[in-house]
Amino acid sequence: MVHASSHSAWQIDETHFDRAGPLAEQLRFALQYAVLAPSNHNTQPWRFLIDGNTVQVCADRLRALPVVDPFDRELLFSCGAALFNLRVALSHFGLAYAITLFPSDADPDVVALVLVSNHGHRDMALAPLFDAITQRVTTRAPFADEPVPAAAQRALIDACEAEGALASCVHERAGRQAIADLVAEADHIQFADPRFRRELAAWIHPRHRDDGMPLYGAAVGGLLDFAVPLVSAVVRVFDAGAGVPATHRHLVDGSPLMVGIATARNDREAWLAAGQALERMLLVAAGLGLTASYLNQPIEISTLRVQISSLLHLDATPQLLLRVGRGPHAEHAPRRPLSDVLF
Ligand SMILES: Cc1cc2nc3c(=O)[nH]c(=O)nc-3n(C[C@H](O)[C@H](O)[C@H](O)COP(=O)(O)O)c2cc1C
Repeated sequence: MVHASSHSAWQIDETHFDRAGPLAEQLRFALQYAVLAPSNHNTQPWRFLIDGNTVQVCADRLRALPVVDPFDRELLFSCGAALFNLRVALSHFGLAYAITLFPSDADPDVVALVLVSNHGHRDMALAPLFDAITQRVTTRAPFADEPVPAAAQRALIDACEAEGALASCVHERAGRQAIADLVAEADHIQFADPRFRRELAAWIHPRHRDDGMPLYGAAVGGLLDFAVPLVSAVVRVFDAGAGVPATHRHLVDGSPLMVGIATARNDREAWLAAGQALERMLLVAAGLGLTASYLNQPIEISTLRVQISSLLHLDATPQLLLRVGRGPHAEHAPRRPLSDVLF
């Protein structure tokens, strides 16, 4: 059962944005959109500080996932996605900005300093993505078995490239089958590790209200027992609520397109770029009536990374793997109140 107030994060009335009001209030308003970004296990590993005409976007490493994400790589994807939403919201509300990444040597948790000023940057391509922020949702159910048009695939790749990342689309059945094999292998490795199961279970514990993944009531019992890896695997790939076992065939049939996102470098700047590319791609997808969910497992296991790179035909470091298609309605996951993340 999801707490009612945690869902209201998605019901923002943008007409409440006060164009004549104090800048601090305007920035606060824009941050309501930043926190709608996706994050691994819905940890929401971010904090924000408004100071004059700046917003500091900070990583909240107390919300790290040390087993599945030991170097905070995915944590910085999430912060990058939140930063991207902030850029879109600022652009939509007509606020120009300049961004410095990792502005402080003394504090590596400050991942971006956003300075709002008339002399800043105005990116006309971002404002049209605004409505998609509240439409985007991770959809774990199988997608319609219909191809994603080539023009849409191109738009997804362009979105990633605009943020300095690379993307590749795999739509042929044999290619998707080979990726599904690797996902299954990675699932087995991860679920054989009790630390991984414990970490995942902690974030789908029913006591979570404003974060974590409380929507998987059907699978929670098995996970908390650490005893039913198959049920757990269903959570990772498909929503157990859809009642569909995550077999290979379902994974391939239910995923008409698999998209890999990669970066030339593999450092904290690249991870932030990958997160911004991810969110830009997801918002473009949402605008096209497409939805996505994650198959990062083979990338999270270092021994499988090289293989996934070659299946994706990417001559760069793979960072994210998603399935994209047309999905049924999915519920939004909750968000923490802004007061919890603003300091
Ligand atoms: C870097 C990253 C990795 C993710 N990995 C998974 C995953 O392995 N399995 C999954 O079901 N969801 C995954 N997600 C999706 C999150 O669980 C989801 O974003 C979160 O629950 C919030 O829901 P929403 O995206 O619908 O707003 C991932 C998200 C991010 C940003």
